[in-house]
Amino acid sequence: MKTYYLSLAMLALVACNQKAKKQDDTTVPADTVTVAMKASVSKEKFGTLPDGKEVDRYTLTNANGISMKVMTYGGIITSLQTPDKNGEQGDIVLGFDSLEGYLQKGVPYFGAVIGRYGNRIAKGKFELDGKTYTLATNDGPNHLHGGKKGFDKVVWTASEKKTDHGVALQLEYLSKDMEEGYPGNLKATVTYTLTDDNELQVDYQATTDKKTVVNLTQHSYFNLAPGTATILDHEVTLHADAFLPVSNTLIPTGELRPVEGTPFDFRKGKKVGQDIGQEDQQLEYGGGFDHCWVLNGAGEGLEKAASLYDASTGRLMEVFTTEPAIQFYSGNFLDGSLTGKNGEKYVHRSGLCLETEHYPDAPNQPDFPSTVLNPGEEYHTTTVFRFSVK
Ligand code: BGC
Repeated sequence: MKTYYLSLAMLALVACNQKAKKQDDTTVPADTVTVAMKASVSKEKFGTLPDGKEVDRYTLTNANGISMKVMTYGGIITSLQTPDKNGEQGDIVLGFDSLEGYLQKGVPYFGAVIGRYGNRIAKGKFELDGKTYTLATNDGPNHLHGGKKGFDKVVWTASEKKTDHGVALQLEYLSKDMEEGYPGNLKATVTYTLTDDNELQVDYQATTDKKTVVNLTQHSYFNLAPGTATILDHEVTLHADAFLPVSNTLIPTGELRPVEGTPFDFRKGKKVGQDIGQEDQQLEYGGGFDHCWVLNGAGEGLEKAASLYDASTGRLMEVFTTEPAIQFYSGNFLDGSLTGKNGEKYVHRSGLCLETEHYPDAPNQPDFPSTVLNPGEEYHTTTVFRFSVK
């Protein structure tokens, strides 16, 4: 795919040169000429929160015309424009046109940064050094995605960064000691880099002044065929031989179950809709896929975790991560009650999430990879979403 874009860019340059030589030649299509552009970042005012805080929105554009919009509220990616196989740009994430859209009740974390702890902590309790910490139970009996006012609902401080491989936006947030019940002042930094290789790299960093737990992720809902009602025809590949079965309140039971012979086997790639309707207790508990897969490349650096492909548009998104697991959520709780961009109703399974992370409920499950962060340590994870067509 890189080659595809490079050759498009080269074609455009050649076209520009030819045009410069032959001023009267009007046969070069305009869209071919605009491909060779410079990466850029721009900023606009997006709105004001009920407490008077201003929210800005940044647009990052790479040299091939891929662009994303990010607002300082929740570090939310409000749009992500990538070309389909015919070169047509389309917005592949769910969301709203205005800040007010995101402030509605029941918006399920569209595009947001999730913290301090992504996914669930059983009964909103965990222990560190013999002390019990109590968190909000905002998802039935459990704690979900950092609580009532998680990192998705705070205003981050943004700064633009130029890197040698793309344009970047760095977001910083200080989560105070005992905010949402978590110990320690946690300095969190999330950097979105949009590279000229058509990758969105997300770097998560954090430090603390007291022992705490951290599990940061990104909660974009993807639909690679914008305007299509559901993602059931999207093909998902997960590089995972095992997944974490859950209880009926979606807390991992502690078992790492092989995917072999189950509807959870995405190793060879298959349509989301292929097995989602099977009779299976785990699918019943999740209302579809809403589980954490244990990645085969865990602990080996930036490894391929997943890919998402839509044949109708040719869009392919590959996911690489340093994290040990990925939550694949098939948008089961979307019910048509929210109307998003372009007046689209977000119906059941109209978008899906691929959230790279540590395991849910790890603070209560000593056999899971630890999510504890100590003072003096640096939390740093990286996830890359690579966009192409095939
Ligand atoms: C969880 C779902 C939850 C959703 C909220 C996902 O990460 O796995 O269970 O409903 O976030 O939008």
